[in-house]
Amino acid sequence: MNDDANKMWGGRFAAGPDAIMEAINASISFDQRLARQDIQGSRAHAAMLAATGIITHNDAEAIGEGLLTVLSEIETGTFAFSTALEDIHMNVEARLKELIGEPAGRLHTGRSRNDQVATDFRLWVREQCDAAISSIQALQKALLGQAEVGADWVMPGFTHLQTAQPVTWGHHMMAYVEMLGRDASRFADARARMNECPLGAAALAGTSFPIDRDATAKALGFDRPSANSLDAVADRDFALEFLSASSITAMHLSRLAEELVIWSSAQFRFVSMSDRFSTGSSIMPQKKNPDAAELVRAKIGRILGATVGLFTVMKGLPLAYSKDMQEDKQQVFDAADSLMLSLAAMEGMVSDMSVNESALRVAAASGFSTATDLADWLVREAGLPFRDAHHVTGSLVAMAEEQGKDLPDLTLDQMKSAHVAITEGVFDVLGVDNSVKSRTSYGGTAPERVREQIALWKGRLA
Ligand code: ARG
Repeated sequence: MNDDANKMWGGRFAAGPDAIMEAINASISFDQRLARQDIQGSRAHAAMLAATGIITHNDAEAIGEGLLTVLSEIETGTFAFSTALEDIHMNVEARLKELIGEPAGRLHTGRSRNDQVATDFRLWVREQCDAAISSIQALQKALLGQAEVGADWVMPGFTHLQTAQPVTWGHHMMAYVEMLGRDASRFADARARMNECPLGAAALAGTSFPIDRDATAKALGFDRPSANSLDAVADRDFALEFLSASSITAMHLSRLAEELVIWSSAQFRFVSMSDRFSTGSSIMPQKKNPDAAELVRAKIGRILGATVGLFTVMKGLPLAYSKDMQEDKQQVFDAADSLMLSLAAMEGMVSDMSVNESALRVAAASGFSTATDLADWLVREAGLPFRDAHHVTGSLVAMAEEQGKDLPDLTLDQMKSAHVAITEGVFDVLGVDNSVKSRTSYGGTAPERVREQIALWKGRLA
């Protein structure tokens, strides 16, 4: 064996790799993030090898202890990562060899880097699913706090970003609580599906050693070992599902971020972002910019980009493992970091922002927002078919618009000129408070309905 050849697999090699080969091949610069999971997996594997009599208990003990030393070296930053050793798996094993000598060489019995990396990465992504769920719930709690304070504050509800009907601030906040609830459940579903252990699939075909896959699966908190060794090493669905769930969550965060950007503008003034989550301008002294919201609005670009990226890496790959799959990690790491940061920033912005109740109310009453209430009144009180009521109301809106007024400012006589059946009672429904109070259908914006949903979610998140 040539001295330059790789110490782990250089037996058949006469020369070491070209520098460019080493550069394209090595993953240690990024997969060192899997160190803790790698060591966790190796410790479980070593313990199983001893329990099944494949290696001695003494060797397993030396390996287990040595791996803890390696982990502490990595965590304290004293570990010297080597590009020549390619990846985290070989870096850890080589250091173990330096520390404990010969028994280190027995650790890799009955496994391969293919099932090893699949296991490490699953453990990592599984942790991220848990982290995503808890960050989502923290944001839901912040939204619930806002919803509770303003359960009956009126604001304009929009469609096409045109004033549509008055809604309550609480209702608007709770819409995001619902979205985020689906997001959390997507991570929970993905987590349940990914919770099968690839370890012991070895390179692709399983192993002739009498390993106990149930034992390693159990030790690593998996529900069961994966049932097909080819699938076990070739599968990255768990990462794709994590990225897909992350993309949908990031899309929701982007929508909320966009609302915060609009609402904090001088034209809306619905909310004021706290100083802690705003920045100033180096030239315009009056500016307070919602940079955090804008960045959260943008993060979907990276996260969805990672999702498309990994789908593209995986498509068309023949079974089982191909080195292409090493390109799975950076995208997932970056997407996970972006998601966690976005969730934390959004939680901070939502908890800290102050809401301008009177600006919400003024806006709620403008733009003929109670026109539907007027039409509904004509149906209910004057017996008009809805289409006719719609027409009569439309003519009143046109009249008000022409006179530069809102609907409640028209006189009764003007109302009657559009339809004789209109009486004084109509003015009751033209106010925004009555409008929202009347929308008591299940899921509607009436404060009593909103409070029910708040109570329900508080229970769920308790
Ligand atoms: N660094 C590799 C990866 O991330 C580990 C698996 C390598 N397996 C192999 N047969 N070369 O995918």
